[in-house]
Amino acid sequence: MTTPLSVLRAEYLSALRAYLERESEAGFAQAYELGRQAMIDAMGLLDMAALHRAALDAFVLPAPAADRARLLEAASTFFNELLAPFELSIEGYRAALAASEERFQLAVSGAMAGLWDWNPQTDEIYFSPHFKRIMGYDDSELPNERQAHLQAIEVQDLERITQSLQSHLDERRVYDVEYRIRTKLGELRWVHAQGQAMWNENGVPYRMVGWILDITDRKRNEEALHASREEMRRLSAHVQHVREEEKARIARELHDDLGQQLTALKMATSMLDYRADGKKPWPPKEALGGIYAMIDELVRSVRHIAADLHPVILEDLGLIPAIENLIDEFSARYRIRVVRRIEAGTIAFNRECRIEMFRIVQEALTNVARHSGATEVVLEFLREDPHCIVRIADNGRGAVHDGSKGRHSFGLLGMRERATLLGGEIRILTQPGAGFVLTAIFPLASIETKDAR
Ligand SMILES: Nc1ncnc2c1ncn2[C@@H]1O[C@H](COP(=O)(O)OP(=O)(O)OP(=O)(O)O)[C@@H](O)[C@H]1O
Ligand SMILES: [Mg+2]
Repeated sequence: MTTPLSVLRAEYLSALRAYLERESEAGFAQAYELGRQAMIDAMGLLDMAALHRAALDAFVLPAPAADRARLLEAASTFFNELLAPFELSIEGYRAALAASEERFQLAVSGAMAGLWDWNPQTDEIYFSPHFKRIMGYDDSELPNERQAHLQAIEVQDLERITQSLQSHLDERRVYDVEYRIRTKLGELRWVHAQGQAMWNENGVPYRMVGWILDITDRKRNEEALHASREEMRRLSAHVQHVREEEKARIARELHDDLGQQLTALKMATSMLDYRADGKKPWPPKEALGGIYAMIDELVRSVRHIAADLHPVILEDLGLIPAIENLIDEFSARYRIRVVRRIEAGTIAFNRECRIEMFRIVQEALTNVARHSGATEVVLEFLREDPHCIVRIADNGRGAVHDGSKGRHSFGLLGMRERATLLGGEIRILTQPGAGFVLTAIFPLASIETKDAR
């Protein structure tokens, strides 16, 4: 229940009169209690001034001139007691405020953050000394003006920050940005900034407080790491490329050179078969037959080695015929049925991707033969814009995990590497007893020829 001001005034006047008449300390306690009550009733200092004014009108003005000075002083002392609760509470607020400010400073200075406090309406801003230090300035060197910071921000980052700030103020989205600033000495430093605005009941932002953190070292480490990863990737691409080139060269030599020489040898040997004089041939026919068979076998194995080193068919007929051929050989050799679903006719595979994709399928089929004990494989090669999906799924024994952690297993690792080179990835789904499904996903953008796009 709030006490009306008129009641308070009556109580104040009667207490003051008693005090002026007796000047006893008990009156102070009464004044203090009235002040406390006024505060509970949410009265302000102006109300209290009005009370005092009424008291002066009632007691001091009508008094004889000789008494006025004494009465005035006594009334003032009494009034001070009335104000004491107000004093104390303001003091309390001040202390609490200082403590919370201190806590905030401690919390952020522990993290080496620089603070800012901005009024979006008047554009007044405060930068903490550490904020200025991050920018390379002493506290007195940089003015507390927003422009002073904006000017230091790297031009390319400015628009992004401004947009983020605006969307925080307008739509209350999180303000959390990283950007570059130029320090006083011209050095480029990375900062991480976060902030929080406060809005009044009409949704107008009236204050925004935030901090910046110097993250230059972290950024430099990240950049160095990224650069070294890129380098590794380039190196590995180069190694793969050189390896394939080398294999292609050896394959060509085996096929064209050695293969042809063996064929020529066979023809030369066959000449021995005929003797113009019609006499019994020498060496005997049986011996020759053995030599022919051996040479035929040699030619076959040279072809096989050559095809394995570098599938010439890949260059001559393209990826899909080469894969069809691979499947035919695989099922004939291992007696494993292959169900094929090849719907990639519209993809114009570029030269670079052919060998990588071929090798991935080849290794997957080799793994099926070596590890799965499967009786059937489903091989899919599909266009699913914007990707090309290659899936090799067997019905064999599966594996506990995807095997990529094996110290002496390089098959899957190589497949992943090749897929990465093409901007793609390998996913594996397997469980003991539930088969092994390997899916390679490639972005069409990186496997098609430029003019196909
Ligand atoms: N189709 C499959 N069915 C069952 N397990 C498989 C299959 N494919 C791979 N694995 C498991 O994953 C492991 C890793 O395969 P990966 O091709 O990386 O190595 P590897 O075939 O053992 O050796 P290599 O380096 O010669 O290829 C295999 O050892 C095997 O345990
Ligand atoms: Mg393998």
